[in-house]
Amino acid sequence: MNSVIVLFINLLYICNLCLQPSVLFFIIFSLKLIQAYKCFFLHNILLYASDSGQNSSEQIPRTKNPGSKVLTTLPILNDQPSKPIRTKNLIIRKLNHSDLMDFHIFRLQPEVGKELFSGVPKNMEKSKNYLENIISDTDDLCLGIFLKDTEQFIGIIGAEIDKSTAPSPSVYYGLNEEHWNKGYCTEAVRGFVKFWKKLPRESVYITYNKDMHDISNDMVVEKLYGNVSKSNIASQMVLIKAGFIVHSEKKRKNKDNDIYFQMWM
Ligand SMILES: CC(C)(COP(=O)(O)OP(=O)(O)OC[C@H]1O[C@@H](n2cnc3c(N)ncnc32)[C@H](O)[C@@H]1OP(=O)(O)O)[C@@H](O)C(=O)NCCC(=O)NCCS
Repeated sequence: MNSVIVLFINLLYICNLCLQPSVLFFIIFSLKLIQAYKCFFLHNILLYASDSGQNSSEQIPRTKNPGSKVLTTLPILNDQPSKPIRTKNLIIRKLNHSDLMDFHIFRLQPEVGKELFSGVPKNMEKSKNYLENIISDTDDLCLGIFLKDTEQFIGIIGAEIDKSTAPSPSVYYGLNEEHWNKGYCTEAVRGFVKFWKKLPRESVYITYNKDMHDISNDMVVEKLYGNVSKSNIASQMVLIKAGFIVHSEKKRKNKDNDIYFQMWM
């Protein structure tokens, strides 16, 4: 009974104490402090969650409207190929300054000039400048095709990369006329494509074009393109034999409105 009375008196004392203004202020202040801490903690959690959400939506844009930026992959060229590409009859390697004469003679062929270089060069100086650009260019790839047996220069093969939009990267090639219709170009394109597929990749943003891009898992599927005039049957055959298919038919924006096939693999 005594202990109940003691407890009751203690309770009265505590209540009395609690009602003291200074103690009341202390209790309210502590409660507010706990509440503020909880808010701060919760806010940080929410902020973190929304931050990570924002990052993922930046990496993979949700809209696929023409002109919007979308993620794809492209090969890293970095001084590639590190060693020559070898096929059954051919060696495909980087061009160097000593290839100038062969390169100039190659460019002087009207058919090659028309399809690959918008005309034939006026003089050797033009070819020299062109070759120097090829050698110093790290964004595109232009390689020489040589016969394995004789190391004779017979043509070129390469790929242009436009990091902004399709059709990119696109493959191009040409051979000296004396070596046409021997299967060499098909062999070169097949060898080149095999090498291309093995290159290391990087992720890049490009401008989405619904006519020319396939989307898979929110990313543009990387393609290798080839643009061939409708009249250039040999070149179409080369790409088809190397595994390309016709994707669309387009009109060139030149005075003759030439038709060309856009092919890809
Ligand atoms: C396009 C080019 C590289 C082809 O080189 P190539 O070494 O003759 O090619 P290939 O021998 O590997 O294959 C050509 C194929 O086209 C076929 N072909 C060529 N002309 C043809 C024609 N008029 N109709 C039907 N088929 C034709 C050949 O028969 C061959 O096919 P096959 O091996 O099944 O018989 C060469 O013609 C060239 O350098 N042209 C100028 C540059 C150029 O046009 N570059 C392409 C820019 S897109």
